[in-house]
Amino acid sequence: MLLAIETSCDETGVALFNLEGRLVHSLLYSQVALHSPFGGIVPEIASRKQLEVLHPLVKKLLAEAGATPKDLKVISATLGPGLIGSLLVGATYAKTLSLTLGIPFIGVDHLSAHVFSIFLEKEVEFPFLGLLVSGGHTALFLATDFDRLELLGHTRDDAAGEAFDKVAKLLGLPYPGGPAISKLAEKGDPDYYELPRPLLTSQDLDFSFSGLKTFVLHLVKKEGEGLKVEHLCAGFERAVCEVLVEKTVKAFKKLGIPRVVVAGGVAANKRLREFFQKRAEEEGFSVYFPSTELCTDNAVMVGFLAYKKWERKEFTPLSAECYARAMYKLRASNQAL
Ligand code: KG4
Ligand code: ZN
Repeated sequence: MLLAIETSCDETGVALFNLEGRLVHSLLYSQVALHSPFGGIVPEIASRKQLEVLHPLVKKLLAEAGATPKDLKVISATLGPGLIGSLLVGATYAKTLSLTLGIPFIGVDHLSAHVFSIFLEKEVEFPFLGLLVSGGHTALFLATDFDRLELLGHTRDDAAGEAFDKVAKLLGLPYPGGPAISKLAEKGDPDYYELPRPLLTSQDLDFSFSGLKTFVLHLVKKEGEGLKVEHLCAGFERAVCEVLVEKTVKAFKKLGIPRVVVAGGVAANKRLREFFQKRAEEEGFSVYFPSTELCTDNAVMVGFLAYKKWERKEFTPLSAECYARAMYKLRASNQAL
C-alpha cells in the first residue's frame, strides 16, 4: 500500500492507496478551531499540533483499514510549499518510516497536488489551464502532464484566500474568512459599494489582491457604524471572483486551450463556481471543479500524485529538503506549446 501524508499548513491529512491506485481510506484532522481566535494561522501552534496528532492519526488510519506498517510499500509526503515547521513534521515522519521500513519515499509538491486533485473524480484531457486559488497561493498554470506544470502568472502580493482571511479579520469575522464572507455575501448587494478590480485589464496573467484589501480597510474606517457588512462582503467576493475568472478567460484567449481546472480552498466558493460556469459557456471552454472536500488541504490529492510518480518509479532521495515557497519557472510568453 501507499501511505500519503499532508501537513503543509493547519490540516493533518493521511491517506492509504492500494498499489492499483485506488483510495482505501483517508482521515483529516483540522486545527481550524485552534487558530480561529487569532484570525489566522499561527505557524508555531500549527507545527506543534502536527507533531502531536500525526502519529496517532496514521495508527488510526492503518487500524481502520485493517492494515499494519508491514503492508506499506511506499510512503509519500508534501515537501512544499507551505509552513516550513508543519512541512518538516510530515516529511521527517515519512522519511523516517521510509528508512526504518526500507521502502521508497516520494515527495509531492503541494500546488501540483491541488491542481491534479480533479483526476480523483474526473478525467481531464491534457493540456489544460489550472487556476490554483488557496490561502497561501494564487497562480495560473499550464498543465501538459502530471509532472509538467508551467507558471503563466501568479499573485504579486496576497493570495486570494489570504485576502478573504484578512478582510474577514478586519470585519471581526471568524477564520477561515472565505466561508464567513461568502455566507454574509448571500444577503448583500454586490453593487452597493464600488470596489476596485486590481490588474483586471493588465496584459499579463498576474494577480494582485493587497490593494483591494487596503481599499476595504479605508472603507471600513470611513463608514464606521454605518458600514453595511453584507453589502461589503458581496462586493468584495464579486471583485475577487471577477478578477480570477477574467484573468483565466484571458489565458484561454491567449493560449486557445478550452479546458480549465480550478483548485485550492477558494475553489470551494459557490459564487466563483457559478461565475466561472457562466463565462465558460459564453466563451466556449469547459471548467472543472473538484468537490469541496477535495478543494481544501487533504492527503488524498497527495496520494494520487505520489501514485503517478510511483508508476514512473520516480522516487525522491531522503536528502530532498522541504521548501516554504513555490518553485515554478514562469513560462516564456512566446514559447510554443
Ligand atoms: O487550499 P487551502 O485549504 O489551504 C492552503 O493551501 O492555503 O485553502 C484555504 C483558503 C483559506 O484562505 C480560506 O479562507 C479559503 O481557502 N476558502 C474559501 C472558501 N472556503 C475556503 N474562500 C472563499 N470561499 C470559500 N467558500
Ligand atoms: Zn493547499
